[in-house]
Amino acid sequence: MAGFKTLDDIGAVSGKRVLVRVDLNVPVADGKVTDATRIERIAPTIAELSKKGAKVILLAHFGRPKDGPSAEFSLEPIARAPAEVLGLPVRFAADCIGDKAAEGVAAMKDGDVLLFENTRFYKAEEKNDPAFTEKLAANGDIYVNDAFSAAHRAHASTEGLAHRLPAYAGRTMQAELDALEKGLGNPVRPVVAIVGGAKVSTKIDLLMNLVKKVDALVIGGGMANTFLAARGTDVGKSLCEHDLAGTAKQIMIEAAEAGCAIILPADGVVAKEFKAGAASETVAIDAVPADGMILDVGAKTVQSVTDWIDRAATLVWNGPLGAFEIEPFDRATVAAAKHAAARTKAGKLVSVAGGGDTVAALNHAGVADDFTYVSTAGGAFLEWMEGKPLPGVEVLKR
Ligand code: 3PG
Ligand code: MG
Repeated sequence: MAGFKTLDDIGAVSGKRVLVRVDLNVPVADGKVTDATRIERIAPTIAELSKKGAKVILLAHFGRPKDGPSAEFSLEPIARAPAEVLGLPVRFAADCIGDKAAEGVAAMKDGDVLLFENTRFYKAEEKNDPAFTEKLAANGDIYVNDAFSAAHRAHASTEGLAHRLPAYAGRTMQAELDALEKGLGNPVRPVVAIVGGAKVSTKIDLLMNLVKKVDALVIGGGMANTFLAARGTDVGKSLCEHDLAGTAKQIMIEAAEAGCAIILPADGVVAKEFKAGAASETVAIDAVPADGMILDVGAKTVQSVTDWIDRAATLVWNGPLGAFEIEPFDRATVAAAKHAAARTKAGKLVSVAGGGDTVAALNHAGVADDFTYVSTAGGAFLEWMEGKPLPGVEVLKR
């Protein structure tokens, strides 16, 4: 892969201690991992290194612990999940530095896999403190970062270590960087972006960046209401950030200057209450009742979205078009996702999706496997869409 050192460049690793930064920040309920997607993604790197005889030492954070070690944020119960996915035993060391870490490493044989306790049990991790990085580095000969989803953090285990040890991108990091390059870095045109979700306020930088890079931008979800209201459409009781009317107008001006078409809803599915199965009707977007809430885009809008998908060579998708968690307001998201999946399967479209609810929405539509790439990253995917350099990625560049 151009620009980054990967496992193809790593050379012989037999007998070497390889510190692999992974993302094990997975959803857990009653001590059980409820979605193992992130673990499945890191399996290839771990398996490859283990097979080549490396001592594979996993570094990860879990949650956002505030006051040092606690059972609540321990990675110990999570250690079982990668073991199941890998079909290999994963041992656990109750610290990521110091004696317990060193003892765990000393007991390893070539090919073994060991998980260190939560790096965020030390404040120094998030401060990217050189003395702490030094202590982490003491247990490794080589550093591999396979945690794109944590690469927006300049922490000791995501950034600092790459300065201290020979550093490589793992297979998932590599796949992610490849997909993102195809999505926005160097895409085949036309490029269409779909951005949805509740609020404009969390996506201003993202929208400002996208209008300069894509040929068409579909705006859906609650955030579309802010744009509709800014242009003078009455959105009734819909979620709407009226104070951001100026920002929305500015984004539309910049889009016009850059030659980016903005596609706003032409119709909406409105209801009087936000609950499953609530009575709803589809109305033209200029006919939203004063007591109505727009909870999804209507069929006419879906048609224009799928038309744009047909014209596109590349699609970048972040955020649902409607309140997809609640039926029947999932229809537009499901229809557009299925359409994009079919175009991708037909070899007509490169489709890259990620960030927050997007993976859940595509899973709900049953098409996550049919997209070219679905990122499990949240904040990192958004920062990438904002055009910001990610510290954990920058440091891996040749
Ligand atoms: C995530 O879950 O998005 C990553 O693991 C990063 O976690 P953080 O937002 O707590 O840094
Ligand atoms: Mg996050």
